[in-house]
Amino acid sequence: MSHPKFPLGVDLMDDDHTRIEEMLARSEGLADAELPGHLAACRAEIAEHFAREEALLRDHAVPVLACHIAQHNRLVADIDATIAATGGNIPSLRAYLAHDLPNLIMSHIASVDQISARFLAGELPAEIVANLRLPEETAP
Ligand SMILES: [Fe+2]
Repeated sequence: MSHPKFPLGVDLMDDDHTRIEEMLARSEGLADAELPGHLAACRAEIAEHFAREEALLRDHAVPVLACHIAQHNRLVADIDATIAATGGNIPSLRAYLAHDLPNLIMSHIASVDQISARFLAGELPAEIVANLRLPEETAP
């Protein structure tokens, strides 16, 4: 059983979030030369997690999935943009791995991941779920 900073009660999410948090926490102890490769490894782990999470949410017809996936895509795009913008700037990479990226991930977990997990647990009233769906999701 894993223990992420913000437990959601869904094994796949909690296990993956713990692994990502541990990867990001390891950044602090890495040598400068290891940081670019570590950020690339974190990006790969995060993208693989998003694919697993999206499959789970799709299987359970979780509402506002399109918005959730859009947030995933924005997060990966932010990592890619940071890699491109920082180049070999070690202080910038270190700050991104220590603060910016963990904050982005935690904000995502505490918002759309939490709502999705509550839907999976049957904790969202049906009338609220119906109103959460996007127009294309409710179209006949
Ligand atoms: Fe998510």
